[in-house]
Amino acid sequence: MGETVMRIVVIGTGHVGLVTCGTLAAIGHSVTGLDSDEEKIATLVAGRLPFVEPELDELIARATGEGRLRFDVEAPEAIAEADAVFICVGTPPLPSGEPNLIAMERAAEIAGRYATDGCVIVEKSTVPAGTAERVRRVIARVRPVGRGRVDVASNPEFLREGHAVRDALEPDRILVGAESEHSRAVLRRVYEPLVARGYSLIETDINTAELAKHACNAFLALKISYANALAQICERAGADVTAIAGVMGADSRISRSFLDAGLGFGGSCFPKDLQAFERLSARLGYEFRLLREVMLINEDAISAVVSKIQDELWNLDGKKIALFGLAFKPGTDDVREAPALALARRLMAAGARVTAHDPEAMRNAKQEVPQLEVAPGALDAAAGAHCVVVCTEWPVYRTLDLEALEAVMAYPFVVDARNIYDGKVMREHGFVYRPTGRPNVDAFRANVSP
Ligand code: UGA
Repeated sequence: MGETVMRIVVIGTGHVGLVTCGTLAAIGHSVTGLDSDEEKIATLVAGRLPFVEPELDELIARATGEGRLRFDVEAPEAIAEADAVFICVGTPPLPSGEPNLIAMERAAEIAGRYATDGCVIVEKSTVPAGTAERVRRVIARVRPVGRGRVDVASNPEFLREGHAVRDALEPDRILVGAESEHSRAVLRRVYEPLVARGYSLIETDINTAELAKHACNAFLALKISYANALAQICERAGADVTAIAGVMGADSRISRSFLDAGLGFGGSCFPKDLQAFERLSARLGYEFRLLREVMLINEDAISAVVSKIQDELWNLDGKKIALFGLAFKPGTDDVREAPALALARRLMAAGARVTAHDPEAMRNAKQEVPQLEVAPGALDAAAGAHCVVVCTEWPVYRTLDLEALEAVMAYPFVVDARNIYDGKVMREHGFVYRPTGRPNVDAFRANVSP
């Protein structure tokens, strides 16, 4: 691999940035991760990760131990020596729904100021089409005379939280948007070890690469909303949405993945990217109504759960509701835009007492919703509850002792917003069971006459 070792700087050590640091070092490059947040860098230098991500800690520990990865607050000299600078800063939504690109501008300024001749400045953060042009202008504004030229390229990331290292080391595809032979050549060299292992690299122009990232996330979100809309019809028609997803998924043109109906999508990507894509389209003169509908169906998924609870429990005032799972999906402690937290807020506003459990995300959830009560175990959360809502499909809830659950609850009522339980089993255990887009179970109760 000798001559393919590249000197790489990664600006931003959030999820995408740290995974980029770890994986580029793992495939043999020499990487420096930069972040303006001193506390974050101190945590990383001390060998700890600021979030939960499987495999990433070992990857980073190995790379730092072998001297292929280091972290710093500011390192003009590392940028000056870099063959490529990857910008992996956050692009959080503004109140308008458009992404806040100020961190992008700051990173472009730093890279543009210190990079030397031939360096390629690569956008990895998810940004609207047209951002590279703004980045070029920022660089032109700050770049000292006589420092040579730099190129701008786009290399969107398709990693999923909780699966990020595998997604980066075994990618479905690597996407490179570049407009000069030089930048294409540099990025080919960066990814050469993965291409040599058989992973495909798709090259496009920069606008296409930027847009492709939004197109992928929006399409995946669309699949989820399609499944959630389908679940509504299934509940009314007495059909089973999971079985339908299986039938649809058997068609290779459709594929089974991202057709799980439930509480809807959350996280730091789909909600933000959908909004940003919709705003970008509107700015470019196209009303992308489909995307707005995808967002509305996603919000409806939470209302549907609230209605199911109210249908069964009537008034929520004084009722105790237990939430199983707070993270926006299993395998992470991330609660950004988590549907479970939106549901908790809605239930509390209606007067319910909400207690929650999550294997990883309770600390983050408490920061977001301080009045939320949390319990050390699922059964502790469910003790005395009139309803349990499965919000995140953590494995620990799938294997829960249902007899014990039925015994600790004040009323054995489960709303399964992730379809993890089997209706037949729930009936055997005496639950009133409300899955999503699947047949209800009403336990037989002989203690009240009609
Ligand atoms: C998503 C994309 O999957 C990645 O490809 C992309 O790189 C990333 O965004 C990004 O833009 O950075 P991520 O946000 O980690 O990744 O989460 P996903 O695994 O895609 O799940 C998103 C949400 O959809 C979760 O809340 C999950 O519970 C929900 N979901 C997923 C469903 O409700 N149903 C499904 O069938 C699948």
